[in-house]
Amino acid sequence: MCGIVGYVGNKEAQRILLSGLRRLEYRGYDSAGIITAGRNGETLLREKGKVAELDKKVAESEHNDIIGIGHTRWATHGEPSERNAHPHHVGDIYLVHNGIIENYQDLKEVLADRGYEFASETDTEVFTALIDSIYQAQDKKDLHQAVVDSLQMVIGAYGIAVMAKGNLDEIVVARKGSPLVVGVGEEEVFIASDPSALVGHTDQVVYLRDDEVATCSKDGVHLTDATATKVDTVVEKLELDIQAIQKKGYDHFLLKEIFEQPETLRSTLNGRVLKEQDLLRLGGLNMTDDELREVKNVFIIGCGTAYYAGMLASYFIEQFTDDVVIHNAIASELRYRSFNVPENSVALFVSQSGETADTLACLQEMKRRGVKCLGIVNAVGSSIAREVDGGVYVHVGAEISVASTKAFTSQAVAMLLFGLVIAQAKGMSLKELRPYIAELDILPDEIQSTLNSQNEPIKTLAKKYAHYEHALYVGRDSLFPVALEGALKLKEISYIQSEGYAAGELKHGPIALIDDKFFEMAFVSDNWLYEKTMSNIIEMKARGGHIITVTNSEKAIGTEEVVRVDTKLELLAPLIFNVASQLFAYYVAVERGNDVDQPRNLAKSVTVE
Ligand code: M6R
Repeated sequence: MCGIVGYVGNKEAQRILLSGLRRLEYRGYDSAGIITAGRNGETLLREKGKVAELDKKVAESEHNDIIGIGHTRWATHGEPSERNAHPHHVGDIYLVHNGIIENYQDLKEVLADRGYEFASETDTEVFTALIDSIYQAQDKKDLHQAVVDSLQMVIGAYGIAVMAKGNLDEIVVARKGSPLVVGVGEEEVFIASDPSALVGHTDQVVYLRDDEVATCSKDGVHLTDATATKVDTVVEKLELDIQAIQKKGYDHFLLKEIFEQPETLRSTLNGRVLKEQDLLRLGGLNMTDDELREVKNVFIIGCGTAYYAGMLASYFIEQFTDDVVIHNAIASELRYRSFNVPENSVALFVSQSGETADTLACLQEMKRRGVKCLGIVNAVGSSIAREVDGGVYVHVGAEISVASTKAFTSQAVAMLLFGLVIAQAKGMSLKELRPYIAELDILPDEIQSTLNSQNEPIKTLAKKYAHYEHALYVGRDSLFPVALEGALKLKEISYIQSEGYAAGELKHGPIALIDDKFFEMAFVSDNWLYEKTMSNIIEMKARGGHIITVTNSEKAIGTEEVVRVDTKLELLAPLIFNVASQLFAYYVAVERGNDVDQPRNLAKSVTVE
């Protein structure tokens, strides 16, 4: 959560920082601030609300400064307010921080005894005072060393950028559990918690690793470990272009990302599904065929949409494996359970951002237990991607909207590929494999034709249901995770209270909810469970339900509304139903006038537990 930016060079720092913050705003949008410095001293500007509010303040106080740091906040300690906004300033030190300092109360008491007073409720202000107290005690001012010394005393997670009063040459950055990347240009350096803020400035980047500290100046990046011992700097090429982070004519990033799915899915499949050769290839797994053959248990771990993608993938994989048990786990639960890991297990960590704190914590625990860990990750170079033994990048490009859509589709498919690769190693014949390859081959086109045919009808449908305050989403078998994901999508962007249920569970409680304030979304597949699900629909109808049925069946349905999705797919049909459900959530949220890309109280990557 939270976005950090920094700049040191010869250009106007204020404008560079503001444009970086706008790109990072999806990480948090409770308040924003920048501190810049030049020949006339420092200017600290902070404002509650979005970056646009800060922008107005900057317009009234423009400075030709050449160094600065900035922050857009998702509140943890202390309400969203100007007082609690970053950068924090204590003594000679300015600090922006992403993460949580767990022992800040203890440090606060020590620092209060030394005469420090605190204006905010934040852990970050305490951290700032700590660095200042060390800095003030130095005979020869050394900001890098002051940061290194302070890090010995804090417990918790951080990505930080630090400036000192009167020092126009350096920004010191450090990370532990919260991403930071430094872009290196010609006599200038850019700092960001996400590489999207660097696009258009430079493609030469240095990803900080945990426990590294860097001094950034016009001369470049000077990197050390947590004991101030020099570390080699590895400069990598950033593969992200400006197109990928623009709306390209769509009203919202969310709609753009829904519509990108045929193309992003092709990127996921590219080079991995070789139809002509009847071959599947996953280069990054780093597992031999013998190791794949040994696999008996697959843990699939993630949060939110990534968790639901894992659940959907487990329904897929169970169709063609008979000696593999799949264990789906919510990362924020698993990390505090005393769970057992059987022999011959691998663990998949599913994450768009690759930074989700709970998923990362599970990864570290599984590694400690010696389990083979694989990532199903989108963000290249992210923490999870770096810590796993191997994995599958989903390659969907930047997903800017807080609500995850294109990542879900590609995560489910990437895990299906992993399941098929295991099955192949265990002896799945070509004849058995071909139908799956054939489905994967037509999936992008099928998604495209669903988008083309359903966009307008679903837009109209959404207008009719946008005034409801409650919704039930139901489905059976592999449409159950689609119901869960559909309900999550609707609630997070429309604020309609929506719950996903297994259709067969309705009679065990949820059916009591049905009244005129509710509508129900039922997913019905034209397969062996058709009659069973229709019985559930009839039961809801008998109780006055306002039911929208999404189905690939041509039979008469008889509910208030029916969305017909036309698909030849069998195994992968749920992904088509899900696209219809994404469009519905999007248009309901638009109809309700919500901030679709940046829903209230949320942030794109959840780097706090
Ligand atoms: O970056 P991750 O995939 O690890 O994020 C996991 C969840 O935070 C994320 O899917 C969240 O639930 C989305 N807002 C759902 O749209």
